[in-house]
Amino acid sequence: MTAVLGIIGYPIGHSISPAFQQAALDHCGIDATYTAWAVPPEQVGQFVQDLRRPEALGINVTVPHKEAVIPFLDQVDDGATEAGAVNTIVRRGDMLTGHNTDGYGFLRALQEAGGLDPRGKRALVLGAGGSARGVVLALARAGLARLTIANRTVQRAEALAALGQKRGVTSGAIGLEAGGLTRAAAQADLIVNCTTVGMDHGPAQGESPLSWQQIPGSALVYDLVYNPPDTPLLQQARQAGARTLGGLHMLVYQGAASFEMWTGQAAPVAVMLAAATQAMAARRGNK
Ligand SMILES: NC(=O)c1ccc[n+]([C@@H]2O[C@H](COP(=O)([O-])OP(=O)(O)OC[C@H]3O[C@@H](n4cnc5c(N)ncnc54)[C@H](OP(=O)(O)O)[C@@H]3O)[C@@H](O)[C@H]2O)c1
Repeated sequence: MTAVLGIIGYPIGHSISPAFQQAALDHCGIDATYTAWAVPPEQVGQFVQDLRRPEALGINVTVPHKEAVIPFLDQVDDGATEAGAVNTIVRRGDMLTGHNTDGYGFLRALQEAGGLDPRGKRALVLGAGGSARGVVLALARAGLARLTIANRTVQRAEALAALGQKRGVTSGAIGLEAGGLTRAAAQADLIVNCTTVGMDHGPAQGESPLSWQQIPGSALVYDLVYNPPDTPLLQQARQAGARTLGGLHMLVYQGAASFEMWTGQAAPVAVMLAAATQAMAARRGNK
């Protein structure tokens, strides 16, 4: 029996998860298919219910369903509960469990591909949405010392700073005014973009949340945006002489963690990264 895996979202045509997950399954000789399903919000409950069938191993969940799936699961692990979002569902017997591998993927990429251990460091996080919440929790777990959250809607930054503070990180919140941003960036060892600014087809395509004059050359600049792979922020960071990390590694590492939960096998990360890079290039070539 060919096992069934996949990802749900709405829309889902943009996802490159099928490319790198199928490459991993094929590489490991696992008889399974990984499919992208566009599931409208009103069909999420029924879709999750159907995952109890024997051939289903589980799924990934992306925007806008990461919270919506929760009421249909039998249990949600501590990490996903804390994040308030599920990106991976695993079936064991008749039980469906929700997990969140985004924080793990973010940290592993930071440490392995970015070469930075956040323990004792200072970070500027841009954005206060779903991914920023996961990033703040992951950085707090990893022992970050100081955090500034900058967001267009300052109240959301304040709420996230309160969470950081609760988790033992000295945290503050600011808006996106140039003066405050410049001061916060100047003190940062790590700058993470968790906004959609710079994302293709997003609200601020082609823009960078910081200019090169605002970026210290000693910082690592990590952009969660992976489309385009070389974002306007990463270009500004290079101009400033800073080290850079794009979002593709995080995407692959969060998927690698899901793969390991579904299959019980070590994920072939190099194979996945190569397939993801190739899928991005092909997609951009077809634009
Ligand atoms: N690499 C990965 O694996 C990975 C994983 C997750 C997400 N991401 C990427 O991360 C980005 C954010 O995702 P998310 O899920 O956190 O989104 P989200 O929950 O919708 O949050 C969006 C954030 O962007 C800000 N924003 C939106 N438009 C803006 C503008 N024109 N100017 C300034 N700020 C603006 C929002 O500010 P307000 O609060 O003021 O609205 C908010 O902080 C996306 O590009 C996504 O693709 C990548």
